[in-house]
Amino acid sequence: SGSLTFLGIESSCDDTAAAVIRHVPGQVPQILASVVEGQTALHAAFGGVVPEIAARAHAERLDHCVEQALVESGVGLADLDGIAVTSGPGLIGGVLSGVMLAKGLALATGLPIVGVNHLAGHALTPRLTDQLAFPYLMLLVSGGHCQFLIVHGPAQFQRLGGTIDDAPGEAFDKTAKLLGLPQPGGPAVQAEAALGDAKRFAFPRPLLDRPGCDMSFSGLKTALLRARDALIAEKGGLTVQDRRDLCACFQLAVAEVLAEKTRRALAVYADLSPSEPALAVAGGVAANTAIRDRLEQLCALSDTRFLAPPLRLCTDNAAMIAWAGIERYLAGGFDDTDLVARPRWPL
Ligand code: KG4
Ligand code: ZN
Repeated sequence: SGSLTFLGIESSCDDTAAAVIRHVPGQVPQILASVVEGQTALHAAFGGVVPEIAARAHAERLDHCVEQALVESGVGLADLDGIAVTSGPGLIGGVLSGVMLAKGLALATGLPIVGVNHLAGHALTPRLTDQLAFPYLMLLVSGGHCQFLIVHGPAQFQRLGGTIDDAPGEAFDKTAKLLGLPQPGGPAVQAEAALGDAKRFAFPRPLLDRPGCDMSFSGLKTALLRARDALIAEKGGLTVQDRRDLCACFQLAVAEVLAEKTRRALAVYADLSPSEPALAVAGGVAANTAIRDRLEQLCALSDTRFLAPPLRLCTDNAAMIAWAGIERYLAGGFDDTDLVARPRWPL
């Protein structure tokens, strides 16, 4: 029948995930199951993901995630056509756990194993949800990633630029920490910013004076720290309104930098005369409504479709890995039990 059913496994950061996807030619792919076990609580006390803790949690939870995905989907190992696994980039302990499990399953079943680049997983998600045509422009913006890609094909990614230091989500999280707000910082900062005065502090717009699509967000956090400390020195602490204003100014700076760089990326993309122009976003920061509104406006101005897959597929998950595995397999790509885990792996 030409249909393909893949198991996907993801364990490269702080989410342990397994999913089952079925692809029938000419139809929208079916997500038969997508199980994600987050580790936020395990790392909360440390103010960031601790690699050793993440690796141990993945090792403990992966079997159960895979089992649950198979049970939920009603798909047995014998019904699968392949096993897709994130083989990098990411925290090596976690990636290794996933790759070893995939190899074990492949040896036991004789199924092909398809190593997937985690970033390719994110970048191909708009084809899982919307069957988006190539080439499309992609903005990947999360706690760990920030880059513009023109996606020309399942294995053809043209990087237009990205952050040279922190990812925006990281900056949101650090801002929240500096202001005593809860983690993850993005939603908390967004809520405060909605009640703040975005004109009160003049925060920098890093790298806007330079051509291209590269970005920088670490200086923003330093500017915020200075403004905070100046307020504390002046009056001994922060008022509720100070906190809101700091959040509003920080968020506006991030949104303006992302918007201007997106405008430039859209211009490069338009030169390709794409048949169905589209900008897709992925990553947790794509949930930010202030940022999203600006990107949507830019797209409206350039007759470009704006696409934001549902958040559960924009943040780390295994459905995107299973799907990217199917895309790679359909293009003739697969691995065997020699597959290696790669901590670094640019697209
Ligand atoms: O994609 P994701 O779940 O995980 C990875 O980083 O891979 O993204 C999480 C990041 C966190 O830094 C979080 O603070 C940020 O996305 N985030 C937001 C919002 N919701 C989540 N940042 C800004 N505004 C939001 N509404
Ligand atoms: Zn990710």
